[in-house]
Amino acid sequence: MSHLRVRPGPAPARVRLRVPGDKSLSHRALILGTLAEGLTTIHGLLRAEDVVHTAEALAQMGARISDPGLSTDGPMLVEGVGRQGLTSPGCALNLGNSGTGLRLLMGVIAGQNFTATLYGDDSLNRRPMGRVAEPLMQMGAFVECSGPRSTPPVTVHGGRLQAIHYHSPLASAQVKSAILLAGLNAAGETAVTEPARSRDHTERMLRAFGAQVAVEGLTVRLQGEPTLRGQQIMIPGDFSSAAFFLVAGCLLPGIEVTVENVLLNPTRTGLLTVLQEMGARIEITGEHEATGEPVGNITARSSALQGVEVGGEIIPTMIDEIPLLALAATQAQGQTVVRDAGELRVKESDRLATTTEALRILGAQVTATEDGLVIAGPTPLRGGEVDSHGDHRIAMTAAIAALLAEGPTVIHRAECIATSFPDFVRHLPALGAEAELKNDG
Ligand code: S3P
Repeated sequence: MSHLRVRPGPAPARVRLRVPGDKSLSHRALILGTLAEGLTTIHGLLRAEDVVHTAEALAQMGARISDPGLSTDGPMLVEGVGRQGLTSPGCALNLGNSGTGLRLLMGVIAGQNFTATLYGDDSLNRRPMGRVAEPLMQMGAFVECSGPRSTPPVTVHGGRLQAIHYHSPLASAQVKSAILLAGLNAAGETAVTEPARSRDHTERMLRAFGAQVAVEGLTVRLQGEPTLRGQQIMIPGDFSSAAFFLVAGCLLPGIEVTVENVLLNPTRTGLLTVLQEMGARIEITGEHEATGEPVGNITARSSALQGVEVGGEIIPTMIDEIPLLALAATQAQGQTVVRDAGELRVKESDRLATTTEALRILGAQVTATEDGLVIAGPTPLRGGEVDSHGDHRIAMTAAIAALLAEGPTVIHRAECIATSFPDFVRHLPALGAEAELKNDG
């Protein structure tokens, strides 16, 4: 295991950077490239552990990915095997820490003619999979979740599927995407209705590969058994990775931070809306489209923030950024209340608990409720020793908090940062900090 030591220093007036490719798009590009016919070329694929796990699991099922270990730079080539062209893996598939990888592949395997078992690390093996197993069973797959409370290992017996219209109890892109991926191999129309809109990358990318996907309100409809054609895919920077530096831009004095070439899909950028409501000075420039997704540059300037109340349908559009919102709220005038975010209890860690613990150690006033957080601001932060609980977003949120704190901060179990953003630590000196990731012991 490793720890990250961050010692804050004076930040420069202007910082410009780029962050690596979007994680959600990277998983989907590898999966759809594999299920397509012909060659898919992926530019800007995220090289991080979560995506390696998906690429390697696909390769174990016969996918032809140029470098499934993702150790080389440059475009990734995927020679499609067709919608039902995967083959039985010789062993159980390890998805590491990646909930997206495991849940999306459940949907893919449901429509293949073999059985496969998927599992992950201790964190992933505690996460609920019944939410995906249930609709796949309704489609005719047989799915066994052998851990307690429907957790992995998960065995999916693929086969002939029938199209369904699933009314999901959750706004979850992973659930919706697993059903749509299974629906590729079901005749007729597969539809999913969600209680609120979750990220829509699967819908957009399926269209780019030639599938017919219609969206009406909260319902997505896919025409089954399409021919997917290999594509050139451009993956922009991950908004969820950019968000760490944008929040630093809002909170550090006298600074302006620009992150270039970032995914601006509105089902992802709820944090920007909420920060603006809090008074943040945020500007978007250079907007354009790449592979059906909006992309642009985001600038965040030092801002005087006010507390805010957040809940309801905006929550799924900022689900991975709530720890960062909580950090911003520690520096805002007045109280911030987050509601309807109970999903955070079943992410890579129980993020309501781990966010509260980390920020309190650094001097903030944060309380977790059953489905949210209450933060009283503003409070000065002080350095301290924080445990990431193996959750990359908690480790990185604590590192950004450390930039504002008086004195150094040590973040334990910081190796998890590599699941989504291996270069994160190398960007911290640009914000004036000394940062060092070291093995324990
Ligand atoms: C993801 C969906 C989200 C998010 C996760 C990535 C995806 O989960 O938290 O980090 O790529 O589909 P939900 O299933 O809660 O939407």
